[in-house]
Amino acid sequence: MASKTTRSSRPQRHHLITQSPHYPLVITIDGPGGVGKSTVAKLLAKRLGVMYLDTGATYRALAFAALERHLISDVPRLSAFARQLPLQLHGMADGSLQVLLDGRDVSREIRAERISEAAAQISQYPKVREAMVSLQRSLANAHGVVVEGRDTGSVVFPKATHKFFLDADPAIRAQRRQRELMKRYGSRSSLRLVQEQLQFRDELDRSRRVGPLVKPKGAIAIDTSRVSAAQVVRSMLRRIRPAPPLRPPRP
Ligand code: DC
Repeated sequence: MASKTTRSSRPQRHHLITQSPHYPLVITIDGPGGVGKSTVAKLLAKRLGVMYLDTGATYRALAFAALERHLISDVPRLSAFARQLPLQLHGMADGSLQVLLDGRDVSREIRAERISEAAAQISQYPKVREAMVSLQRSLANAHGVVVEGRDTGSVVFPKATHKFFLDADPAIRAQRRQRELMKRYGSRSSLRLVQEQLQFRDELDRSRRVGPLVKPKGAIAIDTSRVSAAQVVRSMLRRIRPAPPLRPPRP
């Protein structure tokens, strides 16, 4: 296990990251579903030796807990619950995140389609977003972070040192999501259904009043349609660590 972070033990860390010039590596990666954000963010965090933070997992964990507690449509109670969410994220040796709710491992459960739907619903509520943004900042590690989501460069870490925005052809995004669902759950959803679900959530993400999916100001856009995750990471690393200047040839 590479790192462990809990909400309650490190509540003030984001101040270091968002305000101190001494912690330069805050890298945000935003974009719609199916563009490869998670794969790229994990690889990049590993290459840079900093933590990986998946903000989507925080909405998913809240949605999971809200469904169990029948809070999904009770916005005032849901927002109050979000402010106390007993969430822990553990960075694993393989680069993935273990998601613990009240000590219970829900990493797999939160990826199910019904949770995707519930997370899309609750992420529309401004008070819920406010609580989740505060939680996400408190989870970030002061030594540096690669954070991915929809509003990480625009709202969560507007002063990030490097911002990226990934996008891809909708048909390719649907193929990737279909493959992922098949691998994880043996799901046999048709490509058309997967594409419709992605499109529906895209519209929700782009049209919400608070924290909509946008290309953050100053973010570098990368089209991932025809490049591998490793190529995307290489191109990001070139931006993060510019190549040293060429030495003039010896006389
Ligand atoms: O990236 P994902 O599919 O795991 O995200 C799950 C849901 O959470 C998705 O509907 C969008 C929402 N989300 C959000 O509103 N803001 C973020 N920064 C990350 C995710």
